[in-house]
Amino acid sequence: MCGIIGCVGHGDGTLDVILDGLETLEYRGYDSAGVALAGDGLDVRKKEGRLEVLRDQIEADGERPSGEVGIGHTRWSTHGPPTDANAHPHTDEAGRVAVVHNGIIENYQTLRDELEADGVDFSSDTDTEVVPHLLGAFLDAGMEVEEAFRRTLDRIEGSFAIAAVVAGEDRILGARNDSPLVLGVGEEGRYYLASDVPAFLEQTRDVVYLDDGETAIIDADGWRVTDRDGEPVEKEVSTVTWSAEQTGKSGYDHYMLKEIHEQPTALRQGLSGRLDELSGRVTVEELDDVGTPETVHFVACGTSYHAALYGVELFREAGVPAQAFLASEYATGPAPVPEDGLVVGVTQSGETADTLSALREAEGRGAETLALTNVVGSTAARECDHALYIRSGPEIGVAATKTFSSQLTALNLLVESLANGSPGTRELIAALRDLPGDIQQVLDETDAEAVVDEYADRESFFFIGRGPSFPVALEGALKFKEITYEHAEGFAAGELKHGPLALVTRETPVFAVVTGDDERARKTIGNVKEVEARDAPVVAVTDGQSDVERYADHVLEIPETHPRTAPMLANVQLQLVAYHMADRLGRAIDKPRNLAKSVTVE
Ligand code: M6R
Repeated sequence: MCGIIGCVGHGDGTLDVILDGLETLEYRGYDSAGVALAGDGLDVRKKEGRLEVLRDQIEADGERPSGEVGIGHTRWSTHGPPTDANAHPHTDEAGRVAVVHNGIIENYQTLRDELEADGVDFSSDTDTEVVPHLLGAFLDAGMEVEEAFRRTLDRIEGSFAIAAVVAGEDRILGARNDSPLVLGVGEEGRYYLASDVPAFLEQTRDVVYLDDGETAIIDADGWRVTDRDGEPVEKEVSTVTWSAEQTGKSGYDHYMLKEIHEQPTALRQGLSGRLDELSGRVTVEELDDVGTPETVHFVACGTSYHAALYGVELFREAGVPAQAFLASEYATGPAPVPEDGLVVGVTQSGETADTLSALREAEGRGAETLALTNVVGSTAARECDHALYIRSGPEIGVAATKTFSSQLTALNLLVESLANGSPGTRELIAALRDLPGDIQQVLDETDAEAVVDEYADRESFFFIGRGPSFPVALEGALKFKEITYEHAEGFAAGELKHGPLALVTRETPVFAVVTGDDERARKTIGNVKEVEARDAPVVAVTDGQSDVERYADHVLEIPETHPRTAPMLANVQLQLVAYHMADRLGRAIDKPRNLAKSVTVE
């Protein structure tokens, strides 16, 4: 995810505070960086690549930017590739206003069309650039800065954390909606705005957490928070007590836990601007030129392969024949390439060697290819005919968590866009809209730790599910084994009796994903009874619609939702089980032995 820092009160040291602040946000991942300092004029410097590249460029330029106030940004591309022009800050044409932004402005195309019709020239592909142009236009119309800022916010829709500076003004204006922004209260007229506390932790531990719809103004005289009408809002100053080691993890003990908790935000980003509740349609810009395929083949590895299996289920429901292949098998065997079909590479990194080979094999044999990935400009995105971005933000933990949830969400968007207007789309759109909140509920109310307490001494664990919950069972087992180093296997529930049941004893907990109360749920409950009869402890992950609880020793509850989103909520419970078990066993959660985040060898 992108990072923001802004500061006032550091005089000649402004640039260093901003660059150092951006450095502390590097762990979040980014592909370009920039700063804007405001004094009488505005000085903006920005570069594609690492912060070092920006630092070197500033040194090479000879003159360091100076100003009493300044903002900085590290960008993780969502609209437009990583280039100097697309890096933040963005300015208006007069170069009077500079803006940095995290999140996605959903109505940017409408605003851009409007501004271009008024003669405004855009210099980037970003959604963000509409903000400085709007702000500049309101200032040109004679509005006072804060009024102009509020009017600008009134025009934009979507998720955002924004910080803006204006030439000749010694203040920074900030606002948030669905994307974090915090205010730091330092000493001697020093104040800060940032997307994450670590950005200014060197300077102060006193923090004001802004809420959605609030605007913050910092200048040398102090700080203020207002609502969208400019009315003052009283805010509490809290003191952060994290250790230096925890700062990059925003207070969480591990990146994995942080990333599990980032899922509501990640999914909001992934859905932003792509659901139209009024028309009941899904609109994904990147898919405008992809027609409805006759057949779909997925190629993927590991967690992404589990996402692919879920995708198969969705396409088949929509009447499109689909199959998932392990990329390592696809690339080395006689690959079945569908005629008039689409080959989808599911890969969060976009750099997995096996998946790239499979995609190249398909491409070489004339197939149309699509990369479903998190990384704009990754090899898969560049080499495929199309790319659909899941917009999860960077994931540091080796164990894929938020990217898996974002992949499943994006697969729903993919299927709905290619088979748009299918009956049931409205219900699905409503469920997807509620999904971030439902995941938050799971995170707030989970009993995963109690389950872990009960079974921490066991050495073998099974996970079962059917239909779209089968890939979630596989993923639950993969997450569990990769970070706990304990034996874990996932099965299609109906397969248990064809072999694995021989392993089931009173010592082997079985996690059963049972959602809804349909034929599949009833059959899975039949399988639960089979393991119960062998005295195995059963942990049901359920929305409470069936009577599976009667046969379970423990229940991990999820809110009732759509049949397609229910497995995604169950998956969050299983992520938490894996995390807490690994934590209890003292494992290297973020860097499990023998594994790498991006596997670039075949
Ligand atoms: O970057 P990719 O999605 O292509 O990575 C594929 C697998 O290596 C990956 O999903 C792996 O299984 C997970 N990190 C496990 O949590």
